[in-house]
Amino acid sequence: MKIAVLGAAGRMGRTIAALAAADPEFEICALCERPDFPDMGREAVPGGPVYTADWPDCADCAIDFTFHAAVPAQIARAAERGTSYVLGTTGLSPEERAAVEEAARRIPVVASANMSPGVNLMLAMVEKAAAALGDAYDAEIAEMHHRMKKDAPSGTAAMLLEAVARGRGVDPRAAAVYGRQGIVGERPRGEIGVHALRGGSVVGDHSVIFAGDVERIEFVHRAQSRDAFAAGALRAALWTRRREPGLYSMRDVLGLA
Ligand SMILES: NC(=O)c1ccc[n+]([C@@H]2O[C@H](COP(=O)([O-])OP(=O)(O)OC[C@H]3O[C@@H](n4cnc5c(N)ncnc54)[C@H](O)[C@@H]3O)[C@@H](O)[C@H]2O)c1
Repeated sequence: MKIAVLGAAGRMGRTIAALAAADPEFEICALCERPDFPDMGREAVPGGPVYTADWPDCADCAIDFTFHAAVPAQIARAAERGTSYVLGTTGLSPEERAAVEEAARRIPVVASANMSPGVNLMLAMVEKAAAALGDAYDAEIAEMHHRMKKDAPSGTAAMLLEAVARGRGVDPRAAAVYGRQGIVGERPRGEIGVHALRGGSVVGDHSVIFAGDVERIEFVHRAQSRDAFAAGALRAALWTRRREPGLYSMRDVLGLA
């Protein structure tokens, strides 16, 4: 499969390019960067494709880990060309999301705020567990990330909160409590605790604990490197082959939908 890597010099773009270069299933035909990128026109590796602002019409699939504001123009270009799209970029505004939905009428688009196969499996299992156990089992979500991370809790913790709430059939905004401090009183039934830990170089750990009176069940995911997201994005790219246009998630890719 021929792929265009959008955001090719970024942390995720470089990881995707490295994994794809080592996998005979893939051929990288374009490395796309923002127009003011200083190394524009240079090769990322000797003999490989050069960085370009507009990606040439060469790809079966474009993989986008850029910046939210860049997404509408990039995905519209893919829709014009009939190129499938894997969208990992997060933080899209409602207008930017509408542009993605518009493009998905013409091409297959896989979009997920977390492309890791393991996290997506965990989301499905957590939703099932929450539905089966109900609020007799207290649900607590904990995440840990490196000290450089700027937002808290993580987007994945928010997805886990939604999975627990969906399984229970409740509103996540009403059920969530973020951190606890001081005389908070007894834990009300139905509360979903969310806790953010920060330190060191942790890539991303997430736990969901269901604590009952006689037993405790824990789901734990630990990402060892960005390769977990990149490998999921490449798997999603292969999955788009011969798909009908539409907006898909990693759940579809993993057969969990
Ligand atoms: N879905 C997932 O699994 C997942 C995992 C990690 C990161 N992300 C998201 O992916 C995005 C990128 O993350 P990152 O850590 O690689 O960031 P980064 O800042 O290291 O890389 C982004 C790259 O995109 C480039 N870029 C910006 N505008 C562009 C444009 N118009 N055209 C082409 N390239 C452009 C930048 O120059 C930069 O090199 C973020 O939104 C992040 O939250 C998603």
